[in-house]
Amino acid sequence: MSDSRGEAGRHPGSGIGDSESGIRDSKLDDLVAAARAVREHALADYSGFKVGAALETADGTIVTGCNIENATYGLTVCAERVAMFKALSEGHRQFRRMVVVAPPDAATPPCGACRQVLWEFAGDLEIILANLHGETARHRLGDLLPQPFDARLLNWKPGGGDAS
Ligand code: THU
Repeated sequence: MSDSRGEAGRHPGSGIGDSESGIRDSKLDDLVAAARAVREHALADYSGFKVGAALETADGTIVTGCNIENATYGLTVCAERVAMFKALSEGHRQFRRMVVVAPPDAATPPCGACRQVLWEFAGDLEIILANLHGETARHRLGDLLPQPFDARLLNWKPGGGDAS
């Protein structure tokens, strides 16, 4: 299901946590606040582009991440992967949704590498994009990565068959 929900500033308050039903999604407000806060820790001197991510686990834990850049630019790690790797390293294995906060007015979706990593560990995760004013878009990861390469294609068996 592709559920892009229109422009920044559409909702009042934080601009995000009101559902279509009118019931306030306070957990979503918490996720957005967490993503905005962790974004302040971004190490993004080379690009000047600070990103914050907040991942909600199945038990309601919020795990955050920011982008961490490196003088050898290719070693930069995006906010989304930092959040996911932190969560995995803390033992979380089931995930509900991720909020990504980046400054541009235009919705800023996860890069290709992050889509692949998120798919590996979270499958068809809900991805909510926001900026400093409000929500900019909402997607399912399966729509952002429509033909994923994943373990189903490897047909790998320990000590046995191969993918040929
Ligand atoms: N970046 C993220 O952290 N997440 C995204 O979704 C897009 C890009 C970071 C990587 C780099 O530090 C900076 O933004 C510019 O590409």
